[in-house]
Amino acid sequence: MSTRAGTAADDQFYREYILDHYKNPRNFGRLENPDISHEEDNPLCGDVIGMDFRVKDGVIEDIRFHGRGCAISQASASLLTERLKGLPLEDAKKIGKADVLGELGIDISPARIKCALLSLKVLKVGAYGLAGNDEDEE
Ligand code: FES
Repeated sequence: MSTRAGTAADDQFYREYILDHYKNPRNFGRLENPDISHEEDNPLCGDVIGMDFRVKDGVIEDIRFHGRGCAISQASASLLTERLKGLPLEDAKKIGKADVLGELGIDISPARIKCALLSLKVLKVGAYGLAGNDEDEE
């Protein structure tokens, strides 16, 4: 799947950007007494990502993620938590696959799509009960 058009220099930039989020994940860890906590796995590899949310007055006041996975899955989770922090729940519900893939900035092969979207699955299935929005739709 192609998420954008870019040059080789762009690709290099985005690869380093992903590696930075992998090595220095933002919002990694656990929250004490979260309002919402949910984990999902990638059925293709068994890797797991979980998220803890603190919600106040309809806004995601704080968020952490935990678990294990490849660079794509960890970077995707790190980027998603950065985006979710401080966001009203109603806006968080509107985040979709194209947003998550676009944030990563590189072409994601079909074999890695579930890695890239694992954190979105945690958000959708766990926090919002949107399991009916199948992850393979666009
Ligand atoms: Fe397991 Fe990517 S290989 S999440």
